[in-house]
Amino acid sequence: MKKLLILSLTALSISFVKAEEKDIYKIDLPYYNWQMKEGKYKDVFEQNCLMCHSPGYIFGQAKGKSGKDMWRTVVYQMIDEFKAPISKENAEKIIQYLNENYTNK
Ligand code: HEC
Repeated sequence: MKKLLILSLTALSISFVKAEEKDIYKIDLPYYNWQMKEGKYKDVFEQNCLMCHSPGYIFGQAKGKSGKDMWRTVVYQMIDEFKAPISKENAEKIIQYLNENYTNK
């Protein structure tokens, strides 16, 4: 019984080695270098918004919701609901950057 166990464990480890050789466990994640628009307070946006999600997520989700002062609602939603540690001063700067560069109004 012991022998059988050792034998099957050996067989198991051999099959793991084989699997590794074939790169079955290798995952290539896509890397997307999102180009943010240049503008005043871009750095404040980057420092305060990108710690939790990517620009792609922000602009993808926000698409089609560009009503009046939509960014103000979004930024304060992040602070009030998701506890983003952003001061009021920075929040206003971020809103300005987003309104100037990412709104179709
Ligand atoms: C503390 C982490 C955190 C920070 C910092 C943060 N967010 Fe978010 N954000 C979230 C979470 C959590 C969600 C909701 C994810 C979900 O619903 O799956 C979200 C969702 C969003 C959405 C989609 C909202 C929707 O209506 O679906 C937008 C747009 C967004 N964030 C923009 C921003 C902007 C702009 C900033 C900078 C002011 C920011 N976020 C900073 C955590 C954060």
